[in-house]
Amino acid sequence: MISSSFSRVVAFTGAAGAVVGVVAGLRGRQAAEFQAAARCEFYRPSYNPPPADYDGPVFKPRLDFPRSANPGNEAFPWLDIDFRTEPERYLRKVRDYCLEGNVECDFRVEQNQIRDWYHVPWMSSQPTGREPIHGMTMEKSSKQGMLSDSQQREVQNWAVAFYNSPGAYAVGRVWSLPWQPAQDGAAFPEGTVMLKQIFTQATEEEVPYLKGSPVWRAAIAKTPREPGDRGPPVETRLIQMDVAIRDDRAGIGWVFGTFVYHSSRCSDAPWRRLVPVCLQWGNDPDLTLQRYQEGARPVQTWNNPRLKELGMIPASRPYLGWLGRANGPVDNFKSCCASCHSTASVPDKDNKVPRGVPPTNATADQALWWFRNLAPRQAFEESGKSLDYSLQLSSSIKHYNGWKKSYLKNTLIGRLKDWWLEAHPFPATASSGGHGKDDNAYIRKDLG
Ligand code: HEC
Repeated sequence: MISSSFSRVVAFTGAAGAVVGVVAGLRGRQAAEFQAAARCEFYRPSYNPPPADYDGPVFKPRLDFPRSANPGNEAFPWLDIDFRTEPERYLRKVRDYCLEGNVECDFRVEQNQIRDWYHVPWMSSQPTGREPIHGMTMEKSSKQGMLSDSQQREVQNWAVAFYNSPGAYAVGRVWSLPWQPAQDGAAFPEGTVMLKQIFTQATEEEVPYLKGSPVWRAAIAKTPREPGDRGPPVETRLIQMDVAIRDDRAGIGWVFGTFVYHSSRCSDAPWRRLVPVCLQWGNDPDLTLQRYQEGARPVQTWNNPRLKELGMIPASRPYLGWLGRANGPVDNFKSCCASCHSTASVPDKDNKVPRGVPPTNATADQALWWFRNLAPRQAFEESGKSLDYSLQLSSSIKHYNGWKKSYLKNTLIGRLKDWWLEAHPFPATASSGGHGKDDNAYIRKDLG
């Protein structure tokens, strides 16, 4: 009796040990495969491959983020300028810093001879993801008349963003593992510059101030409605350059600025024709529609006084940003730079991030929730985690989460099931020794 129950115990322990061993092996293999697949997406240069008959240079993401906040001991010359009293001088300093070494290599920043610039990973897995030639992602398109009175059709806009070393250091802290982003948010050090170049499909005839603008060929979508349906390379023109500068002197920790390409500038170098259009260091939380109608204007935005004369405010657009706050021509005039960027957050358990723009049915009071002055680490929602105004970090984690979910659902479990059935001596549905079916359930539960 004793010996028989003893042997049963031994047999059971042995079988259980084998199952644990198999599951542990599976988990190891699962983790390695998952990590390899995630790494592939992390480095994936574009959503669509370069067109077959294109043989020019292609986009290469630069993702070898620095391990310290200011590796080159750089000085940041704009930090000596008061952006409130000298906004244009501040913006020109930042503009020159952003163009230095980058114009020479046409923003293939891995070839910049002067300083390091980086990209954000995980920007290629979505249908709106990077195109292959310059790494641009699809932005909001501009409806007829939004860019100029002579613009008769909706046009697509595409953009590519870069981070200088301090910025890339913070990006690298979130993405130190390509297969697992940090979940506790981000904080950017002072000196950070986030830069975005925006190119439009609009022609010089449609938007006259674009005459002579730098042209990039890009394999973008055939129509604005179907982002993933990419066509052969077409010409796109530089319209807008956005910057966000981490600057402790601003209550929100950031200064946002935008430039628009303008043909009236007499510089011989096309990139130098980028005109400072506005600068913002806060959301003007008290500026309501009623106060605006009574004549109040933002006091935390500087607008170039020549906006109308420059043709930046066509008839179908009341202002660039909400009630005169900062924005560029390609942006939504119901929002503004700091407002939309204040929503940057780690996605919640349903992979949701706060919406960027107040809902259309929001009352004036409700809309003001989007125009609060949040400190750099203050999340938009109390329960959330702030990504410190970086919307590309928000997007990258969201894209990763979406990819991970479908990877686990479609690929891994299917493949594991096949592997299990092939490798295991008994079929999954057989009830030998009470294993089989239950083991599969266990593994499925383990993965879910
Ligand atoms: C309605 C929302 C919205 C508004 C308004 C807006 N942005 Fe952005 N911005 C975005 C989104 C979304 C991204 C990330 C795009 C992507 O997925 O590549 C972004 C990216 C950027 C980046 C690249 C760094 C980053 O955050 O990822 C900069 C710099 C930037 N914007 C500056 C500005 C400036 C300056 C303005 C105002 C002139 C502005 N933005 C207005 C939504 C907005």
